[in-house]
Amino acid sequence: MTEGPFPRPARRFESVGFSEIVKVRNRVIELLGAGRRVWRFEGGEPWMNTPDAVKDAMGAALARNQTRYAPSSGIPELRQAILEKVRTRNRIPADAESPVVVVGGMQGLFAAFATLLDPGDEVLLFSPYWTPIVDLVRYHQASPVLVPTAAARSEGLAKALARRTTARTKVLYWNCPNNPTGDVFSRQEVEEIAAFARERGLAVVSDEAYEDLIYEGAPNVAIASLPGMYERTLTVFTLSKSYSMTGWRIGYVVAPERYQSAVKTVVLYTTNGVSTPTQWAAVEALSRGSEFVAQWREGYRARRDRLAAGLTAAGFELETPRAALYLFPKTPSWLSEDSREAARALLDEARIATVPGVVFGPEGEGHLRFSFSVSDEMIAGGVEALAAFAAQGAGRR
Ligand SMILES: Cc1ncc(COP(=O)(O)O)c(C=O)c1O
Repeated sequence: MTEGPFPRPARRFESVGFSEIVKVRNRVIELLGAGRRVWRFEGGEPWMNTPDAVKDAMGAALARNQTRYAPSSGIPELRQAILEKVRTRNRIPADAESPVVVVGGMQGLFAAFATLLDPGDEVLLFSPYWTPIVDLVRYHQASPVLVPTAAARSEGLAKALARRTTARTKVLYWNCPNNPTGDVFSRQEVEEIAAFARERGLAVVSDEAYEDLIYEGAPNVAIASLPGMYERTLTVFTLSKSYSMTGWRIGYVVAPERYQSAVKTVVLYTTNGVSTPTQWAAVEALSRGSEFVAQWREGYRARRDRLAAGLTAAGFELETPRAALYLFPKTPSWLSEDSREAARALLDEARIATVPGVVFGPEGEGHLRFSFSVSDEMIAGGVEALAAFAAQGAGRR
């Protein structure tokens, strides 16, 4: 048998990483497999189960044999429910063709970048950022251009963006509320960003995965709701966090007319849509609006505050965020300032799983990400283990 050489994978993969958060999770699974107890704060999903009403809606769809191919951009009932939601709640002036149902926020972001990016384009994004964004941009052979958030806020957001804008800048990725910091930008800040995007003729990819998980203060301002912004914005929403549906894999993109056909084409040729029964479950979820989150909000807040108190007592410095699922403290002096080393020590020596801040960009270095969206027992046990480890660590110094 003669055999020629094996073709290598496409070059694009040379610059695309594989989620480091998944690497942490794999190590945790290894420890659990070896029978060890692990205090798990590395995740990023709601602590509640999917509501029964949503599960029942999928069961009912199956019983009705709604199991066949659906239009690849979504069943009309779901697209209509999305349209009403984004027009009334988010105040986005969407039209009937704007909503495209996707396989979670991840496919929505993939479709948004695939729609907008040519090789060589540049994408502005504030840092710290959600890790996969840089890889999604690179997958499309474009370049991420980081804008350090804290420095930009003191310099002035538009000024900081302007300094990093070139003739190749085409897109601004916007994630509010933010993962990993839990920051929510003020209306005034969102207006400043919008004005900048309009003046420079940029498209915006707005990732609003955490829009419902805001515990205090003003609600999120959808950037596409501001004057002249809908026309240049692809807004990506997901049911993962709002309805405790991370494993169902469903979300939606809201696209203005000029981008609708491209977004739909990406969905057609990647997944040909979302599973039909899942879409029926989503119709039920959206019909409940914010009902479930309203029931869960107090539980989130209590968990956030309990974990923040435990971290503070162990010497971590942090600002309590008003949104999302995470605390993003500075590593204390008794732990390494190198966040990978700090996360390694916590996991290997105290069985506490976190995500090293550096995976969220250079501005995340010196921090660790802890999810507070875990069970009460996990918070109690984790805080106890941390206090014991801190006492040992302080003793070592
Ligand atoms: C900022 C941000 N955007 C989007 C997503 C995508 O979520 P999903 O693909 O589960 O809808 C996540 C998930 O963690 C996220 O943190």
